[in-house]
Amino acid sequence: MKFTAALTSLMALGTNAFSVQPLTNGRPNTSLNLYGEPRPVQIIPSVLPADWANMGGECKRLEDAGVDRIQFDVMDGNFVPNLTFGPELIAACRKYTTVPFETQLMVSQYNCETMLDQYTEATKGPDGEPGVVIVHVEGNTHLHRALSQIREAGGSPSVAVNPHTPAEMIENVLDLVDHVLVMTVNPGFGGQAYIPTMVDKIRKIRKWGVDRGLDFDIEVDGGVKADWTIAACADAGANCFIAGSGMFAYDDLSVGCQELRTIAEAAQKGQILPKGETIGWLEEQK
Ligand code: DX5
Repeated sequence: MKFTAALTSLMALGTNAFSVQPLTNGRPNTSLNLYGEPRPVQIIPSVLPADWANMGGECKRLEDAGVDRIQFDVMDGNFVPNLTFGPELIAACRKYTTVPFETQLMVSQYNCETMLDQYTEATKGPDGEPGVVIVHVEGNTHLHRALSQIREAGGSPSVAVNPHTPAEMIENVLDLVDHVLVMTVNPGFGGQAYIPTMVDKIRKIRKWGVDRGLDFDIEVDGGVKADWTIAACADAGANCFIAGSGMFAYDDLSVGCQELRTIAEAAQKGQILPKGETIGWLEEQK
């Protein structure tokens, strides 16, 4: 059966396609690994692979594709080897779309501390709604202060952890954030391979959140595609998915967005796409 027909019939089936087990002791039954209630899936493309000469138009294209948020990767050639753009470009894209923005600050402590308010302002929504501003634990000695400053400046604070960094490094600021970003590649470049061992860190942070009644989303970023990678992260407890090359690989971005969303939602309900399989496999499980 042609893939689009498979996708259409999957969407027509909606949630009934996958039976949800009753909760046991506040946890779904063992057939599902996800700890606690599933949080809404959000598909968030990174504009790193986009046409930079037409960044505003690309943001509009992503909006038309049905994405939930757009990520801007700020790199200063110091915290990471690569160099991208500052708050001016992010602010310039605002007039092309109403989709929420997020800014990931892969910058030195000096740049973060001196420019944080400008980044927070540039990331806000069309009517001044809080935009997601992500600071790295590895780049901020005064992380608690930086996260509080984002909130005070009208932003939505988020903290990111690099692959080598233990979850414990952010445990004491989980009450300050709306999101935790677990890097699934070493930051600095798009198109890198997904690091599968990060799922244990996602599970640990998810359990902390559920057990302590904290309200934060878990984002994953790096090498995430519409295949086993997004399924594994969703099963572990992530609900926000950054995709750069995994989104811009599609001629029709709306197909990419829908495939990513369908596979993640299926995994939240226990249908976890195995390595080597494509979205058609979900149809066969019916
Ligand atoms: C890497 C960036 C990612 C990157 C993702 O440092 O933080 O957002 O653009 O690109 P892919 O999805 O291609 O790995």
